[in-house]
Amino acid sequence: MASISSLPPAGAEIRLEKISIEFGGLPVVSDIDLTVGAGEFVCLLGPSGCGKSTLMNLVAGFVPAAAGLATIGGNPIDGPGRDRGVVFQSTEALFPWLTVQENVEYGPSMRGVGRAERAEAARHYIDLVGLSHAASRFPAELSGGMRQRAQIARVLINEPSVVLMDEPFGALDAQTREVMQAELDRIWQATRPTILFITHDIWEAILLADRVVTMTAGPGARLKTIAPIALPHPRELASPEALEIYRELREGIAEEVRRTLQAQGLDRGIAA
Ligand SMILES: Nc1ncnc2c1ncn2[C@@H]1O[C@H](COP(=O)(O)OP(=O)(O)OP(=O)(O)O)[C@@H](O)[C@H]1O
Ligand SMILES: [Mg+2]
Repeated sequence: MASISSLPPAGAEIRLEKISIEFGGLPVVSDIDLTVGAGEFVCLLGPSGCGKSTLMNLVAGFVPAAAGLATIGGNPIDGPGRDRGVVFQSTEALFPWLTVQENVEYGPSMRGVGRAERAEAARHYIDLVGLSHAASRFPAELSGGMRQRAQIARVLINEPSVVLMDEPFGALDAQTREVMQAELDRIWQATRPTILFITHDIWEAILLADRVVTMTAGPGARLKTIAPIALPHPRELASPEALEIYRELREGIAEEVRRTLQAQGLDRGIAA
């Protein structure tokens, strides 16, 4: 496929130094130090409400830091930019008045890419996410999973050097999810953007990530562990190594989930 962007597809480094984020003067995340290397795939796990989406929104340029320094490719983040593509937790990010094809073409058309060239690129990415049969449909005519796949195509067509994905497969059925995970793994290996990926699914993180980062319960959540996953791709989750990594991650996250529930007074009946 011809590249439609003059940007190099290789990823850019994300660097967070002593980052704290507050809402209404209350700390959400505190003192976060994390570097995601150029072309690296990092998964972020943690209890609901700990601040994962907030941290990603900071990298996206949607929320400011209360303290610390955040850079992309060495440049301080001071707002959203074309170098970053965001796949949101919600599937409502598509324009409802545009078809799948038009939604995917939107980014290139904004950049002034010619009609034929952007149509061809859109067909490529729509095919990549398995939506060729639905290219002329509007978002309201798609299932939640199909909408999410359209959203992914709409981001990838811009060939961003950083892809931020907030539970992108959370709404998909198990089979579609498996296909999409394998596709993302393949696309990432081929084009090597830097990927920061939020998930609640520990197996998904082990399947995809170079490193898995866990967060503590909030408020004022911090990073808890950073675990490298040194398994070859495509990965075999049934291996003893994968199972051992799963057990460790699960234990650490369960502890933080218990902490969250205790703080909310919802811990009755939950085994320690
Ligand atoms: N715009 C906002 N204004 C005020 N508070 C917010 C805002 N966005 C998020 N919060 C609060 O910040 C905290 C972290 O929210 P966030 O959405 O980042 O959590 P999360 O880890 O992504 O949770 P989940 O796993 O459920 O998606 C929550 O207490 C939330 O209520
Ligand atoms: Mg979230």
